[in-house]
Amino acid sequence: MLSGFLIKKGYSCSMAASAEEALKQYAKGAYEIALLDMKMQGEDGLSLLKKLKSLDPQLQPIMMTAYGTVETAVEAMQSGAYHYISKPIDLDELLALIQKAGERHHLLRENLYLKSELERINRDEAIVGSSPAIMQVISTISRVAPSTTTVLITGESGTGKELAARALHNLSPRQPNRFVAVSCAALPETLLESELFGHVRGAFTGANSNKIGRFEMADGGTLFLDEIGDISTEIQVKLLRVIETMQFERVGSSEPIKVDVRVVAATNRDLKSRLESGEFREDLYYRLNVINIHMPALRDRREDIMQLVGHLIERHGTRLGKRIEGLTPEAKDMLLSYRWPGNVRELTNVLERAIVLCRGSVLDVDEFTALASPGQTSAVDGKFITDADVPQMRDVEKTHIKRVIEYTEWNLARTADLLGIHRNTLRLKIKEYGIERREQATRGE
Ligand SMILES: Nc1ncnc2c1ncn2[C@@H]1O[C@H](COP(=O)(O)OP(=O)(O)OP(=O)(O)O)[C@@H](O)[C@H]1O
Ligand SMILES: [Mg+2]
Repeated sequence: MLSGFLIKKGYSCSMAASAEEALKQYAKGAYEIALLDMKMQGEDGLSLLKKLKSLDPQLQPIMMTAYGTVETAVEAMQSGAYHYISKPIDLDELLALIQKAGERHHLLRENLYLKSELERINRDEAIVGSSPAIMQVISTISRVAPSTTTVLITGESGTGKELAARALHNLSPRQPNRFVAVSCAALPETLLESELFGHVRGAFTGANSNKIGRFEMADGGTLFLDEIGDISTEIQVKLLRVIETMQFERVGSSEPIKVDVRVVAATNRDLKSRLESGEFREDLYYRLNVINIHMPALRDRREDIMQLVGHLIERHGTRLGKRIEGLTPEAKDMLLSYRWPGNVRELTNVLERAIVLCRGSVLDVDEFTALASPGQTSAVDGKFITDADVPQMRDVEKTHIKRVIEYTEWNLARTADLLGIHRNTLRLKIKEYGIERREQATRGE
C-alpha cells in the first residue's frame, strides 16, 4: 500500500518481504531512503537498519514503529535512522518525512562533492589573453557552451585545457550544477571504473560500501574527463556506451542508472596516432571529438605573455602579500624569448618563484635564473658534429626528467613543479620512458 502511494507521488520504490531479501535487493541498486518495519519475519528491523547503514553511511532509513514503543524508536535513531514514524501511518506525515530524508541525502552527497572539489587546487576561472589564437578558442567556447555536445580539448601540458573545460561549464545552462573532474591517468583500471560509475559493496576486494561514481555526481552538470588518451580499451567501450545512452550500472550491480551529463574530455596526447596504433577506439574518438578545441602553446602566442604576467603578478602578489610594480626590460626580454615548454603552468610557477625571491618591487633577471641555466642543457650545447650527434627530443626529455627526479630524490610533486608540468603528466612520462629508481628501496611517493 505504501509503495503504491509513494510511486504515485513520483518516487521509485522496490519492496522486500524480509531483511534477507532487502539486503539482496539493496546490493543491486542505488537507494537514498529505506522505509523499514521494526517487526519482520526473521531478522528484525533494527538489525537490518544497522547492516544497511554499514553498507551505505549515506542511506537515510525511516523506521515504522508500533504506537508507544518509544525505547525502540530511540534505539533506532541512535543506530543511524533518519527518523521514525509510528503506526497507524499518516500518509502526509510519511510524505513529509521522505521528502526531508531525500533532501538530507542530497546534502550529504553535495558535501562529499564539495570536499573533493576543495582538494582541487588553485583555480582562477578567467582565460587571459587577446592573441588571435586564444580569441578563437574563447569564441568557440562561447558558441558551443549552451549545447550538450561532447567536446574534446587538446593541447600541450599547461596550456589551459582544464580552464577551458570550466569555462565551457560556466557559460552553459548547466552552470548551477556541478563541474566534476576525473583524471583518467591517475588511477588503475578497476579503480577508474568504480570512480566513474560507482560500485556496490562487494563488487571487488576493498569495496566495503556502496559508492557513488562521478557520472552520478555530475548529473545535470558537466563531467570533465582529463587525460582521456590514457584509458584502457575496455573502459573506452564502456564509456562510449554511457555517453551514447546516458545510462550505466554501478560496478557489481545490474540496476541501470540514468543521468544527464555533458562530457568534456581533454588530452595532451596525439590521439590520432593512437587511433592508428589501435590504442584508442575510433568510435569513441569520433563521439568525443564532435567539437575540438585546441589550446595553443604559449610560444605560439607570445603576444599574450605580458598580459598573463600582469594577471599572475596581481594574483600571486595579492596572495603572497607583495606589491610588484613591474619588470625590468631585460627580465621582460627573457620571458618573451623563452620557449615555455610547460606553457602557462610553467609561467605561473616561474612568476610565483620570482615574486617570492624579489626583494624590491620590480622583477629583474636575477629572479628568473631558473630559465637561464645553460649548463643544464649540455646535450644541446651547439656541439653537433654529425647528424647522429643531434639527440632526439624524447631522449633529451628523458635525460632531463631523470636528472631532475634524482635531484629531488624522487619527490614527484616537486619534480613536476620544477619541470612546470602536471604531476600526472610526469607519472606518464616516467612510465613511458621506463625511468627507474637506482636504489631498491621504495620510499612511497
Ligand atoms: N589563458 C589563461 N589565462 C589564465 N590562466 C591560465 C590560462 N591558461 C592556463 N592558465 C593557468 O595555468 C595553469 C594550468 O592550466 P590548466 O590546468 O588548465 O592546464 P592543462 O592544459 O589542463 O594542463 P595539463 O595538461 O598539465 O593538465 C592553471 O593555473 C591555469 O589557471
Ligand atoms: Mg589538466
